[in-house]
Amino acid sequence: MNKLSCALDLDGAAQLLKAGHVVAIPTETVYGLAADISQDHALENVFALKSRPLNHPLIIHIAQPLRLQDYAINIPEYVYQLTDHFWPGPLTVVLQKSAKVSDIVTGGQSSVAIRMPSHPLALKLIELVGAPLAAPSANRFGHISPTQPAHVISEFGEKVPVLEGGECDVGIESTIIDATSHSCCKILRSGMITPESIQNVLGSEIQIMAQQKDSKQVPGALKHHYEPSKPTFLIKNQAEIDQLINQYQQSICLLQVSKQYDRRPLKQRIMMPINSEAYAKAYYRSLREADSSSAQVIAIEAPPEQDSQWHAIWDRIQRSTARTANFCLHIDKAT
Ligand code: TXA
Ligand code: MG
Repeated sequence: MNKLSCALDLDGAAQLLKAGHVVAIPTETVYGLAADISQDHALENVFALKSRPLNHPLIIHIAQPLRLQDYAINIPEYVYQLTDHFWPGPLTVVLQKSAKVSDIVTGGQSSVAIRMPSHPLALKLIELVGAPLAAPSANRFGHISPTQPAHVISEFGEKVPVLEGGECDVGIESTIIDATSHSCCKILRSGMITPESIQNVLGSEIQIMAQQKDSKQVPGALKHHYEPSKPTFLIKNQAEIDQLINQYQQSICLLQVSKQYDRRPLKQRIMMPINSEAYAKAYYRSLREADSSSAQVIAIEAPPEQDSQWHAIWDRIQRSTARTANFCLHIDKAT
């Protein structure tokens, strides 16, 4: 296998990882930029490739639930209830780290984030490598997370070989919980596993604390994140879309969930699903499609907020549009 060729098979990916290279891998959430957690040079390369600050820790991916005990200590009992229920799947638990975990993975912190992904290729690969894989999302720092092999290639070109595993099923990143306390569990990053579904598994003894708005609890949680290169706006009403149309001479690509703006003259429209799971799966792909369209700017029609799976989607939309959040202030003042 040529190191520069992009597509890999499972054995080729395992060989490269064992030899200390970085490989992009599929997970059920988003593609990850993976390195063997025992190889410091490979881990450093992950940070360098992403241009990621060294104090933003990485998630460790394991293939068997009990390996948790190798990399974490002082594990509360309720964590096993959660991992029994949600693993393999999009739940990451933050726990006190064991001595086996290098400071490079944790960005120097005493805690470590661990998850068992459900993508069959990711699980087989971890077994073949014989070590857990540290993997952040396979995008350059602050960019849109990748949910298809082609997205990874558009981020890194031939610098990063990709194990192709199709389109990611979930489409947004895992839910992260801080499980370092024995009496309560805090949501650090919302995801498609909701606080309610965690509470249902745990019953009322363990307190679940929802994600704080603008939370700084996750090192590396940025207000601006998951960003296209084009200015991207959240559109909540008719006045806002009209202002955008005036300002950008209709050169707008709209991610729409309803037909309410169908009469507006827009360059391009991408129809989004109105079911939360389907919306999450389509979100990053659609943002990338909008980003490569000929429109000057991207508009996202505010989706529903009915249940807490939508909260995770709203969290991503708010970060994707954070730079333009003040755009419509003067409309609010005028009306
Ligand atoms: O779905 C996912 O979680 C994907 C796939 C590839 O597994 N990974 C992912 O990784 O989203 P990344 O690096 O893009 O986001 C990981 C988040 C970061 O915000 C990081 O700060 C947080 O996890 N994190 C990692 N270790 C932590 C720790 N010890 N304490 C608190 N937050 C932590
Ligand atoms: Mg990321």
